[in-house]
Amino acid sequence: MTLDVARIRKDFPILERKVHGVPLVYLDNAATSQKPRQVIDALVYYYENYNANIHRAVHTLGEEATAAYEAAREKVRAFINAPSAESVIFTRNTTEAINLVAYSWGRANISEGDEILLTQMEHHSNLIPWQQLAKEKGATVRYVPVTPQGTLELNGLENLFDARTKMMALPHVSNSLGTINPVEKIAGEARRRGVMLLIDGAQGAPHLPVDVQAIGADFYAFSSHKMLGPTGVGVLYGRRELLEEMEPFLGGGEMIRKVTFEGATWNDLPWKFEAGTPNIADVIAFGAAIDYLSDLGMDNVRQHEAEITAYALDRMASIPDIILYGSPDAAQRGGVVSFNFPDLHPHDIGTVLDTHGVAIRSGHHCTQPLMRCLGISGTARASFYVYNTPQEVDALVDAVKAAVAFFQK
Ligand SMILES: Cc1ncc(COP(=O)(O)O)c(C=O)c1O
Repeated sequence: MTLDVARIRKDFPILERKVHGVPLVYLDNAATSQKPRQVIDALVYYYENYNANIHRAVHTLGEEATAAYEAAREKVRAFINAPSAESVIFTRNTTEAINLVAYSWGRANISEGDEILLTQMEHHSNLIPWQQLAKEKGATVRYVPVTPQGTLELNGLENLFDARTKMMALPHVSNSLGTINPVEKIAGEARRRGVMLLIDGAQGAPHLPVDVQAIGADFYAFSSHKMLGPTGVGVLYGRRELLEEMEPFLGGGEMIRKVTFEGATWNDLPWKFEAGTPNIADVIAFGAAIDYLSDLGMDNVRQHEAEITAYALDRMASIPDIILYGSPDAAQRGGVVSFNFPDLHPHDIGTVLDTHGVAIRSGHHCTQPLMRCLGISGTARASFYVYNTPQEVDALVDAVKAAVAFFQK
């Protein structure tokens, strides 16, 4: 194994827990990851030692909190190789980051007759904001089809955009199928054609080395809670020139420079987009999560997940009647394995697995249109992270076999 998983597991208190009297096997990482002690400690340390509001205080606690909050921003900047910390905006989650772009950039730049290009594998968070925008503006939404292998049907890219395409948004990695999309190639073509590109990195940043400059996207959005950090924090990276031009998404405190009864001027980036008191404690603890992942090395994280996923695909393929979704090539997918059995509801599989201590997700995974394309209502989905072991994959396979046997009785 690439990572020292035995050592990593000691950092995660929750992994010692039992469920229904058996050890927890946590395989629902695409929904949210578990948190290491370093992150939990950073949160507690903040509240016990320097809890204060940021940016406005001249007292010691306020200065310490401000320094730690801005230090977390710098950690995120380095983690995704953004050219400057001004282009790293803290939001509540990926969903809010995407909405920020759809409202602020979208309302100013999308007009009647324009086309917004998405894919059939969109998470609802990267679908609804664009549908709302299109409806409001009289624009259209087109979807890049998904092949039976679970990859995007890009047809050599030249025909991807048409003259009306103004904006494209797509996932770096599909949360339902695990497909890793060729975002660098798409970004190159988008730049050539003058199309704005947003990447939904909710399943990218936690699992792959991400260099936003090398990818060349205009916007990249992701969530702390899927990458060992707390809930309630997301990131929007945006190209600085674009962010400079954009109007604020939310108005209130912190995002202003000067306010009169007649109007207001806006603060500098990134604070222009961070109205109100931000989630100070969780941003700081997210910084600890970034440190943790950086210490492991994102190349190693990716390698570990590729190994676990290849092992899982291999073992699961031998279960009679199983239907596996997504690319059979583990090199093409992140740590996600979606599966079904004929005449078995994914919720029933998930419920039986829980009695074996195995936590997976079942349902449409917030990708209802994709499920419709696949002709199903949902899947059972196991998703892996840095602390998962081959033995846990074995436990999954045993529990799945037990579930099938239970319902075939
Ligand atoms: C691909 C993808 N996009 C967006 C989201 C939304 O993330 P959040 O709920 O943190 O906003 C998720 C969460 O599952 C996701 O997997």
